[in-house]
Amino acid sequence: MNLPMAPSPTVSPALTADEISALTSEVRALAAQQNAVILAHNYQVPEVQDAADYVGDSLGLSRRAADVEADVIAFCGVHFMAETASILSPHKRVLIPDLDAGCSLADSITAEQLSAWQARFAPARPVTVMYVNTTAEVKALTDYCVTSSNAVKVVEHILEEHGPDTPILFGPDMWLGAYVQKELGLQGSGTFHIWDGECHVHAGIRPSDITAMRADHPDADFLIHPECGCSTQVMEYVAAGDIATEGVHMLSTGGMLDYAKEHVGHGGTAIMATETGMLHQLRMAAPDVDFVAANERASCKYMKMITLPKLRDCLRDLSGEVKVDPVLAERARLPIERMVAIG
Ligand code: 13P
Ligand code: SF4
Repeated sequence: MNLPMAPSPTVSPALTADEISALTSEVRALAAQQNAVILAHNYQVPEVQDAADYVGDSLGLSRRAADVEADVIAFCGVHFMAETASILSPHKRVLIPDLDAGCSLADSITAEQLSAWQARFAPARPVTVMYVNTTAEVKALTDYCVTSSNAVKVVEHILEEHGPDTPILFGPDMWLGAYVQKELGLQGSGTFHIWDGECHVHAGIRPSDITAMRADHPDADFLIHPECGCSTQVMEYVAAGDIATEGVHMLSTGGMLDYAKEHVGHGGTAIMATETGMLHQLRMAAPDVDFVAANERASCKYMKMITLPKLRDCLRDLSGEVKVDPVLAERARLPIERMVAIG
């Protein structure tokens, strides 16, 4: 399968400690001057996370974007996240420090593809559930958005509201879809249809990474993001009794942080299967726990396109504005608001 990919990003050189300190002061002063709030995703480089007002997962950031009192939101994440913030807060100026920061998962389904998929079921109208990692055009054709932290709850809610045999189209992440399907016992139901898109970073964390990590750290806990290419395998290990159920946690990035906070003082090792930027928040939250990446190459180049110099420039110049056509935004808002309200 050939998945469309975002343009190849350029990696910025590392900053010295003095540069980070000077840039952080500039960024904070500009944020105050522009009455701006800085939101950063858990996968951002550490210095951008440290300069932000709020660091979180996709759901937490959407909630902040909807509630925040500020004229400007500087969104340190990827484009669909800034677009979601703009849809939720149309009267605020939403800026992204690099407009080219894309997402391979959002690129794996277009509005045309989604509408052709829906048309295959006509005259029936399945409920369309899309991960928040999608464009505004795709969201405008969607009934419910989800993030990794509430996908199971949202699908459960739909089945309760519309009945257990309701046909559902779930996309674009096939690994998250497989996880939801398994959690809710929908395999073989014939009603839960999954798109075959994926995030190239998470799909690259393979079962062989987990096998190698288990051998190196036999007593470690596993924190697995449900977008990972190893998630199905890990569920199978658990089902076969090869890994103890209590040591395996399928979590969004926000859920991983909650794990860290609950395990302060416990020591030990936790193997983390997600983008490596997550290690920064985990290690700060529980310094005595040894957090190890399941795959050290799992770095999202699009997330890493956001740097402190670019954040400073966008706050200074009010550049990189993300705007969504008001008619499209109106249609895309309902599924996002449903996502924010559930879970
Ligand atoms: P969450 O922060 O919702 O877990 O999302 C992970 C992700 O890949 C965002 O692009
Ligand atoms: Fe998209 Fe994957 Fe990067 Fe998240 S980690 S922004 S899903 S490409």
